[in-house]
Amino acid sequence: MPTIHLVHADGHTVTIEGRAGRNLMQAAVAASVEAIVADCGGTLSCATCHVMLDEPWRSRVPAPTADEAAMLELTAAPREPGSRLSCQIVIEATHEGLVARVAARQY
Ligand code: FES
Repeated sequence: MPTIHLVHADGHTVTIEGRAGRNLMQAAVAASVEAIVADCGGTLSCATCHVMLDEPWRSRVPAPTADEAAMLELTAAPREPGSRLSCQIVIEATHEGLVARVAARQY
């Protein structure tokens, strides 16, 4: 159960427990993290689960697929180099301590 830290736009951090094999969006929603809206439930069609990864975590998760990259063009908050859709980040045991910044807005 990797521990994951979600840093919100106002600076506060929510620490959640991830489960290997599930995705980051699912972990955030299960923990009632309201800033992760996830309207589509993880079907890669809403871009309301936007987070940003900084190094070293940005390099420790697989790169976005072409479909995710296309959806990242539709995020409400400006896309950054480390922008990801959290429903596409599958949690692994090696992600212990992962830090993700939550986008300031999802709409
Ligand atoms: S939950 Fe809709 S794209 Fe991630």
